[in-house]
Amino acid sequence: MSMDGVLKLYFGESNLPTPEYIKQAAIRAMHDGFTFYTENAGLPSTRRALADHYRAMQGVELDPASEIIVTASGVQALNLGIRAVLDPGDDALVLTPAWPNGSSSIMMANANVIQIPHVLCGQRYAIDFGALEAAVTPRTRMLLYTSPSNPLGWVATAQEQQGLLDFARRHNLWLVADEVYDRLFYAGSRLGEPVPSILRMATRDDAVIVIHSFSKSYCMTGWRVGWLVGRRDFIAKATQLIEFVVSHAPTFAQKAGETALAEGEEELGRMLERLKQNRDLCLSALRGLPGVTVPTPDGAFYVFPRLEGLTDSFGFCRDLLLETRVGLAPGVAFGNGGEGSFRICYAAESSILEPAMERLTQFLRVGV
Ligand SMILES: Cc1ncc(COP(=O)(O)O)c(C=O)c1O
Repeated sequence: MSMDGVLKLYFGESNLPTPEYIKQAAIRAMHDGFTFYTENAGLPSTRRALADHYRAMQGVELDPASEIIVTASGVQALNLGIRAVLDPGDDALVLTPAWPNGSSSIMMANANVIQIPHVLCGQRYAIDFGALEAAVTPRTRMLLYTSPSNPLGWVATAQEQQGLLDFARRHNLWLVADEVYDRLFYAGSRLGEPVPSILRMATRDDAVIVIHSFSKSYCMTGWRVGWLVGRRDFIAKATQLIEFVVSHAPTFAQKAGETALAEGEEELGRMLERLKQNRDLCLSALRGLPGVTVPTPDGAFYVFPRLEGLTDSFGFCRDLLLETRVGLAPGVAFGNGGEGSFRICYAAESSILEPAMERLTQFLRVGV
């Protein structure tokens, strides 16, 4: 972190600042008095804005008063959701490779993480439903998956979503869907079309929890605002629990989030054009390199190339950093199925991404 001149592609964010119209909305909100405590579940206006957003984007009807809670970030939503549904000693299934914070939150709830790696079928990652079935125990309470995936960029198909929902219903599990990247989707009929949420398929009586955040779609990583959608009994409990953690998300940041939802489409569209170009730049730079397999990611802003013969992705990333000043995330950080790969976050501007990819491909050509 302290090394100078590093081309940083290791964090899950771009180097672009939060758009001006969102910053102005926060300033306005402060002037308008949104600097006080508010409801634990979040400002009623923010929850209404989220319900409107789900209606417009996903065609899903949500009750803002009982099925949505605003949280202080996506990671806080994840932590709250996990802590509300797991008891110590429970088992939780997690599809990996995955952003490690889900597994860490499960461990912090004194529950057991059972990682089920995605399997690479040709050029696409898939879900190992056989391994999921085999992993169920009488203590299994929850299944966590992330679509679009960090780090894979994998997006669950409708059939896979239905399979996960059927599996969760059959075994009486909470199905926790991390959908923080749903707007960063490149395989829809047009850019800007969201990945269909699991909420379209599930009923409001299903034990389904959706994790979400303003961070990724609106360049608001430092603002710490996210949300949870879930069954009414779960939302009631999570609303009690958040009181003892942060009480509620920052009030003026919630107002800024409302503005992002209302006015963000144009800016988001521009970001998606840029991200798709960046993704394609990474893919064309990596494809054709000896020993590199890189499935096309349909969502998020990561590519996760697998390097034949690589058994120490941490060492690989360290050597790459020391020799070329390019910072990537080692695959091993993402749990089972991650070793042997490395993650590139392609959200950076091309003035950073292009030289980084040149240095990386040169490093790979010379051989590890
Ligand atoms: C899969 C996934 N979920 C949740 C988050 C949390 O985002 P935030 O806490 O910034 O809202 C991240 C951030 O990297 C992520 O990759």
